[in-house]
Amino acid sequence: MALDGSHPHDLQGPHDPYGFDTVDLAWLRAKPGTKWHKEPELLNTWVADMDFATPPVVLDALQARLARADLGYADWGYPHPQTPACRVFAERAARRYQWHVDPAEVRDFCDVMQAVQVMLHLATAPGDGVVLHTPSYPPLWKTLQAMGRRQIDVPARVDAAGVHFDYDELERRLTNEPAKVLLLCHPHNPTGHRFAVDELVRLVAIAERFDLLILSDEIHADLTYDAMHVPIASIAGAAARTVSVHSASKAFNLAGMRHAVAHIGPTWLRDGLLDFPDHLLGAINLLAAEATVAAWEQGDDWLDAVVAHLDRVRLRFAELVAERLPTVKHRPPAATYLAWLDCRDTGIGDEPVLACREAGLKVSDGNDFGPSGAGHVRVNLATSTAIVEQIVDRLAAVFGADRA
Ligand SMILES: Cc1ncc(COP(=O)(O)O)c(C=O)c1O
Repeated sequence: MALDGSHPHDLQGPHDPYGFDTVDLAWLRAKPGTKWHKEPELLNTWVADMDFATPPVVLDALQARLARADLGYADWGYPHPQTPACRVFAERAARRYQWHVDPAEVRDFCDVMQAVQVMLHLATAPGDGVVLHTPSYPPLWKTLQAMGRRQIDVPARVDAAGVHFDYDELERRLTNEPAKVLLLCHPHNPTGHRFAVDELVRLVAIAERFDLLILSDEIHADLTYDAMHVPIASIAGAAARTVSVHSASKAFNLAGMRHAVAHIGPTWLRDGLLDFPDHLLGAINLLAAEATVAAWEQGDDWLDAVVAHLDRVRLRFAELVAERLPTVKHRPPAATYLAWLDCRDTGIGDEPVLACREAGLKVSDGNDFGPSGAGHVRVNLATSTAIVEQIVDRLAAVFGADRA
């Protein structure tokens, strides 16, 4: 049960043990988080938070910690603290991905973007080239811009068969335009692309040929549908040149807790981090580390259930889009709960987000994902089937045959 008892996890059915299909608009609109609180009158399907209540195992762990009545400085070691999440991460990586990492090579960060930024700071200088698949999760490309790194795009081509990237073209570009880092978002936000093993092998070969550090943001790793996530660091030859950043925040809906871990393969980067003034990094929130450990150690049932629900919902959404929005191009995400809609053939222009808003629907603006996001919107499918159907109703009012 939620801390204030307000969300009934007990509204369960045999196919919905955690009540994912029972969330209703009144409950969502009363939630204090940013997704619904900012503009509760709209149908909110923007920021990447799920509409579901926190997993009960996480709530139990937090309540047990609160019951100790000790929120003082944690004892995680000195001078280089490591929370128990580092060990738990390594154990789970072996269990879930058959990926064996030394827990001593894992470090905590306050969030995923901090890990990415610190690694870029240690590994590159202003003007250095960084390879990025585009469109891109906004904070990734905006970080490169803010840090003065030179972005080398690998543009996505999306068709009925899937999401494709032209790696021959990337190799040609890298021959003339040197780079230091391949900044990977794996699985990919916003396209929902799950990089397959042959693609990862190709990327590792490119990284070897051009001596790139691979910096892999794997925050969506646990949200894949037809196949298990393969960490790029588990591909032969990759580990010693790869930093893999993980967090429980997306798959277990804990984004407000703020915590991530990074497995840092290259020794020179682990040494660089030891020399980095730790007071510039802040410190890990006690409750966030508890939440991560509970999710990763005891959250498998909840995760299986949420992925099964999201799988049904993404397929239902794709079916409805094909039926009711014939000019919108979409294919169900292979990973993540994010749907990337190409609205360029609808005649609505480069900012379909505005028309959606007029119809009372708050989506993510494709333009935020870089220039190739123009004419697109991103929809968040982590909600009940009934709400997904309402989202489609509103999209149909904007783009569909029932458009006024
Ligand atoms: C690919 C990706 N990386 C990072 C983040 C944000 O992570 P954090 O809040 O831990 O910085 C998100 C959030 O949606 C994301 O989709």
